[in-house]
Amino acid sequence: MPRKTKKSSQWVCGACGATTRGWFGRCPKCGAWNTITEQVDRDKAQDRVVLQAGDARVVPSTAARKQAHPRAQTGMAEVDRVLGGGLVPGSVVLLGGPPGIGKSTLLLQTSAALARRSGVVLYASGEESVAQVGGRATRLGAAHDNLLLVAETRIRAILDAAEHLGSKLAALIVDSIQTVYSDAHEGLPGNVSQIRTVTSQLVGFAKRHGVPVIVVGHVTKDGQLAGPRLLEHLVDTVLSFEGDEERSTRMLRAIKNRFGSTQELGVFEMRGDGLREISNPSEAFLSERSGPVVGACVTATLEGSRPLLIEVQALLAASFGNPRRTCVGFEPARLAMLMAVLDRHGDLCVLDQDVFINVVGGIRLSEPASDVAAILAIASSHLRRPLPTRLLAFGEVGLTGELRSAPRTEQRLVEATRLGFQHVILPATPRGRRRPEVPKGLEVTVASTVAEVLRATFD
Ligand SMILES: Nc1ncnc2c1ncn2[C@@H]1O[C@H](COP(=O)(O)OP(=O)(O)OP(=O)(O)O)[C@@H](O)[C@H]1O
Ligand SMILES: [Mg+2]
Repeated sequence: MPRKTKKSSQWVCGACGATTRGWFGRCPKCGAWNTITEQVDRDKAQDRVVLQAGDARVVPSTAARKQAHPRAQTGMAEVDRVLGGGLVPGSVVLLGGPPGIGKSTLLLQTSAALARRSGVVLYASGEESVAQVGGRATRLGAAHDNLLLVAETRIRAILDAAEHLGSKLAALIVDSIQTVYSDAHEGLPGNVSQIRTVTSQLVGFAKRHGVPVIVVGHVTKDGQLAGPRLLEHLVDTVLSFEGDEERSTRMLRAIKNRFGSTQELGVFEMRGDGLREISNPSEAFLSERSGPVVGACVTATLEGSRPLLIEVQALLAASFGNPRRTCVGFEPARLAMLMAVLDRHGDLCVLDQDVFINVVGGIRLSEPASDVAAILAIASSHLRRPLPTRLLAFGEVGLTGELRSAPRTEQRLVEATRLGFQHVILPATPRGRRRPEVPKGLEVTVASTVAEVLRATFD
């Protein structure tokens, strides 16, 4: 006889996952409007996270360390770098990104690389049929006997299939979390309670079997992962796949990582035959530079462990009314500060001008060490004087017009030399710290103020 189920309902915020006693127009916890919906659960008991497998087992930390398995390298170096050295057994990774950016492509290629190295990978697609995924795998050269496909949206069926593969299973991929649902809960796939249940079950599966699980998550228009923020808390790692439609460059970053840094950046190029890893992004980003131009300066920034050479462009134009500041890839507040510093300490009357700043290659420059390059690009545009092509500058600018040194200067200098730069402008080394070793053939100008930088470049 079928078991009688008890109906209970609760009101859940779609943005933060908070539960309330009734309907509110505005979530009392996160303040989001119109996000509270009713969720009816047939059986509360089934809502419990399926994390426990029998009685709790207590282990000394020394023994736990011995039990830990090494990371599984996927075989895609850029993915491994962002993960912090490969997939951690039993971890759950969430890959977010806007529609059509190439999430399925990236995961299919990664799965194939992993299947070639480590064993069976199960790719569960809720969005596309086996034929569609198979067709894509063939186009990408990713078809492999160890890469198994299943078109399924019921979480129980996916987990059964994965469990059936036993110890052969090297990884489980679920594309996407918003399409998968649990029979035990009412409501359409993708609603808060479905996402929460399905993710919890996947986390439980990963931890019980020590198998890494990667799930795809859609991103809403404003760039947030669709579904409750809770989703981000449940998983171990959140990766974001970004890029813009006009360019073929794609970037993979870690937003959260329980097992590695969130500073690393993976760079890819989207081509007809799939994503190609770009192991030398500096070269790719600087490839379109020709002779000296007005309003452009190259800087060396650090993305995780890797130095990147990036061009900062500036354009100043006569303003009608309130001067505008427009930034692409650069922080507007930082630009406003640099403009004020240039005006006060660089003797350049730029505050009445419209300013546009663009960072080439779709990169976001968040490191303060890119200040000096931005200042030089702005000054070059204002004075209408080009900078030498082989010049590079980095260093942080302070409000008093002073320059502060950047961490890991030597690494930046080595990358500059490798790409043929001949002249570098950088801040003085603070007292008590070791002077960086300068690679042979590189001319270095040390400056301690913005005024000195401008004199060294334009006088
Ligand atoms: N036949 C093809 N030739 C070249 N490029 C293709 C081809 N098919 C797809 N692409 C590229 O792949 C991209 C879509 O990739 P993919 O389906 O992996 O994205 P996605 O992020 O998984 O999308 P969704 O959010 O819809 O699932 C397209 O935008 C296009 O750039
Ligand atoms: Mg997809």
